[in-house]
Amino acid sequence: MAGGFVSQTPGVRNYNYKLTPKVFVTCFIGAFGGLIFGYDLGISGGVTQMEPFLEEFFPYVYKKMKNAHENEYCRFDSQLLTLFTSSLYLAALVSSLFASTITRVFGRKWSMFLGGFTFFIGSAFNGFAQNIAMLLIGRILLGFGVGFANQSVPVYLSEMAPPNLRGAFNNGFQVAIIFGIVVATIINYFTAQLKGNIGWRISLGLACVPAMMIMIGALILPDTPNSLIERGFTEDAKKMLQSIRGTSEVDEEFQDLIDASEESKQVKHPWKNIMLPRYRPQLIMTCFIPFFQQLTGINVITFYAPVLFQTLGFGSKASLLSAMVTGIIELLCTFVSVFTVDRFGRRVLFLQGGIQMLISQIAIGVMIGVKFGTVGTGNIGKTDANLIVALICIYVAGFAWSWGPLGWLVPSEISPLEIRSAAQAINVAVNMFFTFLVAQLFLTMLCHMKFGLFFFFAVFVFIMTIFIYLMLPETKNVPIEEMNRVWKAHWFWGRFIPDEAVGVSAAEMQQKSV
Ligand code: BGC
Repeated sequence: MAGGFVSQTPGVRNYNYKLTPKVFVTCFIGAFGGLIFGYDLGISGGVTQMEPFLEEFFPYVYKKMKNAHENEYCRFDSQLLTLFTSSLYLAALVSSLFASTITRVFGRKWSMFLGGFTFFIGSAFNGFAQNIAMLLIGRILLGFGVGFANQSVPVYLSEMAPPNLRGAFNNGFQVAIIFGIVVATIINYFTAQLKGNIGWRISLGLACVPAMMIMIGALILPDTPNSLIERGFTEDAKKMLQSIRGTSEVDEEFQDLIDASEESKQVKHPWKNIMLPRYRPQLIMTCFIPFFQQLTGINVITFYAPVLFQTLGFGSKASLLSAMVTGIIELLCTFVSVFTVDRFGRRVLFLQGGIQMLISQIAIGVMIGVKFGTVGTGNIGKTDANLIVALICIYVAGFAWSWGPLGWLVPSEISPLEIRSAAQAINVAVNMFFTFLVAQLFLTMLCHMKFGLFFFFAVFVFIMTIFIYLMLPETKNVPIEEMNRVWKAHWFWGRFIPDEAVGVSAAEMQQKSV
């Protein structure tokens, strides 16, 4: 069978623009939005390892950690401690739903600004926390910030970028996320060595830096032509399009944006409309892609790499160091996606990365199983521990050029304007919900499922790879307002897209599609 892919989508135009400094700088600043998310992802795991932090807020976990050596799998299992990490994601889930209205009505940049602002206040609460209530309020504010930024930034980048480089530009968001993670891990490495409460306070308080970057960035950023048209500033939109494309010959793309906007004006309720059958492919994808992204199990590594490494018998310092190494590998490997996603396409990266993750996860599960068994006792030799770290790096590399960046890119580029903000909100909400679940349940799952946890995620990676193979059409180089044609030409989704949505007769599409 055709495997559900389209080699060349009928009727799709290719504007073929050059890269202008303006679009480059704009998207570079826009991508800062990923920093706040990344900083937080990277800081939590290390802070929850710091003894003064645990002693201050989670004395029960502290005592347990000090005493328990019988069962390695259950050393850190505490619902309250994980709630500290995961509360943020529930807040982000809620705020992403509000953010979609702000993004649509006021423009993408104001959601980014609000994101930076609430994150900034949250970082102050956390840095100065005196009790667990302040800590949790801070986390919730940080979560609001992340929800706003994650809802608006990927859409901003996808709309600003020239179609033939959209993948690379959008991946800037993921690069910023990982950069934030790496910086946070490095900061943790040093602050963990400070005596008393100052270490964790610095780690949590420094979240104000990426917050300020995105706030200031959002103030100076222009809005996207798509959003300007959507809000009635047609003339400004044309000028903006000409300036970011570096040519006055933008008529074709401009007309596509106008047409998309006209169509979107007939849609008064994006939330109700996204449920219509004609948006079924986008709805399914915006739910399944973030769900699968989280079910790769990546955040087991992101949040708990230091815990995992300690479980493997590494010392506390060596664990933080290993977490730093995996972060740097993830950062470098994300660039593989930046440079190949618009050439090889999204599908190739998804499929290759999926297979790589699958194999490494199974190998990690087997090794940990052999060493610790189901009882969770035993000692792991240096060579074996290093081998497991190497396997974790291979797994992380696979994620870094597939599900990591593509989990944000694909949902932000597949929806028509009229439902784009709502679809992106769903993407963030689903992503945050499952980030929350994994963060909340991982330590308990490790305690109960033991090494089987790695097989659990491997099963999902297997399913998602098949899903992509069958259900995701290739979207590389397709102008964002022309995406309906891609869906129309797909062997399965085509039936949901009405002919008038693509302006081509069904028979014609059938004939041209692979
Ligand atoms: C995911 C996060 C993950 C991060 C780093 C992002 O794309 O959404 O959940 O922590 O990549 O791996």
